[in-house]
Amino acid sequence: MKIVVKTTKPEKQKGGCLLLGVYAGRLRSATEKELSPEVAAVLKRAAGRENFTGKIGQLLELTTPDGCRADRLLLIGLGEEKRGTGEILRRAVGTALQRMHKVHESDLAVVFDSFTLRKLDTAQRAEALVEGALLGDYRFDRYQTEDKETRNSKPIRVTLLTKTHDLQAVESGVSVAAAVCAGVVLARDLVNEPGNVKSPDYLANRAQQVCTEAGLECTILGRAELEKEQMGAMLGVAQGSSREPRLIVMQYHGGSAEQKPIALVGKGVVFDTGGISIKPSEGMEEMKMDMGGGAAVIGTMQAAARLKLPCNLVGVVPAVENMTSGTAIRPGDILTSQSGKTIEVVNTDAEGRLILADAISYVRRFEPIQVIDLATLTGACIIALGHHATAVLGNDEKLIASLIRAGEQSGERLWQLPLWEEYAEQIKSEVADVKNVGGRPAGTITAAAFIQKFADGLNWVHLDIAGTGWEEKGRPCYSFGGTGVGVRLLSCYLRGLHLS
Ligand code: BES
Ligand code: ZN
Ligand code: ZN
Repeated sequence: MKIVVKTTKPEKQKGGCLLLGVYAGRLRSATEKELSPEVAAVLKRAAGRENFTGKIGQLLELTTPDGCRADRLLLIGLGEEKRGTGEILRRAVGTALQRMHKVHESDLAVVFDSFTLRKLDTAQRAEALVEGALLGDYRFDRYQTEDKETRNSKPIRVTLLTKTHDLQAVESGVSVAAAVCAGVVLARDLVNEPGNVKSPDYLANRAQQVCTEAGLECTILGRAELEKEQMGAMLGVAQGSSREPRLIVMQYHGGSAEQKPIALVGKGVVFDTGGISIKPSEGMEEMKMDMGGGAAVIGTMQAAARLKLPCNLVGVVPAVENMTSGTAIRPGDILTSQSGKTIEVVNTDAEGRLILADAISYVRRFEPIQVIDLATLTGACIIALGHHATAVLGNDEKLIASLIRAGEQSGERLWQLPLWEEYAEQIKSEVADVKNVGGRPAGTITAAAFIQKFADGLNWVHLDIAGTGWEEKGRPCYSFGGTGVGVRLLSCYLRGLHLS
């Protein structure tokens, strides 16, 4: 997608589609300010006939009136002005983009000044609108070879039209959105890639490529190195698959040499069959998304480098396949993790926490000031929060609060669940230091309680993205498939940090 910023008056914009944001009940005033009075009058009449009220997401397409040189006009409802949010702006443009795809239009001019929002400055508004465009534009059609002509093959060009004097602010918003969304798109692509293509080695190679391009340090550990590291929990999960595990370690040095890094750890199960505790076949195809946390880490590392953030980061992705076979771990097996703690594997389908345990032990050598892990960890999280919130738990309340704030700002919302010590009772084992399941009650919490045992002494927060990592139906900024959740959240959090 090409994005340009221009000071052309909307009615002078030639060809393509002109997009106007309209707050509820403000059709007249919102448009008159932006367009000539004649055009505004035509809009008002047409809108009246069509019952356009400006409620959130309402879309009205009009033929252009005389005096307007675009091919068509698109009005998008923004709801009540005083309840406006950045997310509403994002979704508005995302909705328009999806419409563009449907009608095979490749030129969209966004009337920037019609998308007012007092809470946000000019750069933030530009950022939200361009994010909406980039996210709404995304689809994964690499493997669709038929019906090429019915799909929109021409890349969409988005023009921001504004009369603001602060073009620099608009441009800076555009470049932030472009950097962050490139990370989101990378994460989505990785999640959408099917299991036959996506081995742990494939993921490692893609990460290596990202590092080379973005100027990050990259280290990949194979089976032999993992054995030397005594990462028995991760190796246990990997042992059923003929595909070798990889520990992906990416380092970004944007801060001073003495600054301690923030560690991002992402679950990278390239496919989760459940292992010997095999999953039902219905819906199992979705389990190619079980590396969504890892994808978010890789995408965030790329975004951090492109944004030139002034911090140090280490991104770690334990990449494995959870497969059934004669060599797979059995229920009842006891694994010795890198930390020395022993784990009774009661259910081989609770594999994510096993690989995270070792990955979190591994990052200790970097002496991180904070450790944030992301994982498609529990089905229970979908039961608790559905698809509209990521669960957040941890031992650092301040970090949790900052992440929740970043979630509100970025549109990737979080909801905290308690991690009281009583929950740890459920994962006590009769034969080992801990067991990997805690029964049906509070499945998301007991999974976090398990990880907590390996995060002792660290400032640690866990994000369960099982419900938010995959989009089933298609929403304004999410096409079917991987969502890339986590990249916008973490980019927003890291941008807001003021490390001394
Ligand atoms: N990858 C799954 C969790 C998951 C389920 C993610 C649905 C996305 C959508 C995880 O490895 C798993 O299978 N967890 C088990 C844990 C249970 C055995 C304690 C679960 O949630 O059923
Ligand atoms: Zn599983
Ligand atoms: Zn899993």
